[in-house]
Amino acid sequence: MAAGGKSMKQVLKAPRTLGGEVRPPGDKSISHRAVILNGIARGDARVSNFAQSADCLATVACMRALGVEIESSKGGLLVKGAGDRGLQEAGDVLCAENSATTMRLLAGLLAAQPFLSVITGDQSLRSRPMDRVIQPLRLMGAQIWGRSGDSRAPLVIKGGHLHGIRYELPVASAQLKSALLLAALFAEGDTVIKEPIASRDHTERMLKAMGAKIEVKRDVITLSSSRLKAVDILVPGDISSAAFWLVAGVIHDQADIRLKNIGINPTRSGIIDVLNGMGANLVVENERLVSGEPVADLRVQSSRLSGMEIGGKLIPRVIDEIPLIALAASVARGKTVIRDARELRVKETDRLSATAKELLKLGADVEELPDGMVIQGRDKLRGAACESHGDHRLAMMLGVAALVAEGETEIDNAEAVNISYPRFWQELKRLSAAKL
Ligand code: S3P
Repeated sequence: MAAGGKSMKQVLKAPRTLGGEVRPPGDKSISHRAVILNGIARGDARVSNFAQSADCLATVACMRALGVEIESSKGGLLVKGAGDRGLQEAGDVLCAENSATTMRLLAGLLAAQPFLSVITGDQSLRSRPMDRVIQPLRLMGAQIWGRSGDSRAPLVIKGGHLHGIRYELPVASAQLKSALLLAALFAEGDTVIKEPIASRDHTERMLKAMGAKIEVKRDVITLSSSRLKAVDILVPGDISSAAFWLVAGVIHDQADIRLKNIGINPTRSGIIDVLNGMGANLVVENERLVSGEPVADLRVQSSRLSGMEIGGKLIPRVIDEIPLIALAASVARGKTVIRDARELRVKETDRLSATAKELLKLGADVEELPDGMVIQGRDKLRGAACESHGDHRLAMMLGVAALVAEGETEIDNAEAVNISYPRFWQELKRLSAAKL
């Protein structure tokens, strides 16, 4: 069971119509960064439309435990920056709960602080790879250890003096990249990071806005030790949360859904390209820049989708949306092949195996590959008893599947949505009740 609390089951039937306007929660990745970076900046910053979900609240709790004053205000937070030398040793073990972003970004930050930190997480997070941050941080001079041969949390970090490194990321991971950038803010000399494929660049954008000495040239980022100045941030709606309604709108045969204020950063917006590639009726309008991030309104209507091939550079741009793409492919015409997505095996669950397992229960034709899936589209899915595996994105994907499946679909451990989208089930019922 994810996010603590009681296990909850959702029992759903496909509605005749699906429609309305949705404002998804603030972007999870940007919310984490807004609190961490403003927490070590000089000055106070308002973070509006902050994602009030379990993952981001774990980051707030950790930053508070490290001495940063963070006040809740209606619609957001006021972060009182501690400055570049203002963090204090926490009185207890820090807990990142289910959030790998919290753990990996804080590992980078804490490696440079002059005190001892211990950081742990829930059972899922304690099973996820942390060697990918431990190894490069050690190259920067950090003293950091982990369970299971320095590969798993809890992590113990004896922060201290770091020096810059040149490092080529072995995986396209924004969490790893951001951990190293946070450490580099305090390191002597330049840190140069090369990415194999571009991953989300929210950290780089925010660091620039806060006055850091950062240069980004194609796939190479150079950062030298910098002091940050606080900046107010209006967090855009999370495209990874909006994606559930995008897919719901295109696969339901009587749907019209409008999504307001959605972040469409090109490193995140692959779902729009994939759905368009599959033939979706999807419009992007009112494009604008908000707090340094591209934002737009989106509209989707019922569509006839066709299968497609997905892999390579597209994968980091849709990394959190692949379970949903598999669902869309299950009711599309023809075959969809997803490759190069091995990273999905080390997310909150093994998302390749869990997605295939649950979609098979619903009558989809899915074959699991070591690094992806092959899906043959079917006319219909049929309701079944499904399981979220404690994974928020699985729970919500199954909720969307229920909107088009024949009969009744049960989703066990449905409370997992609290990790990123606490109002998801209410929103699903509201859209299901709307008349077009
Ligand atoms: C995130 C990066 C991605 C993504 C996760 C959020 C971030 O993880 O899957 O949901 O905020 O940096 P990886 O860095 O492991 O690819």
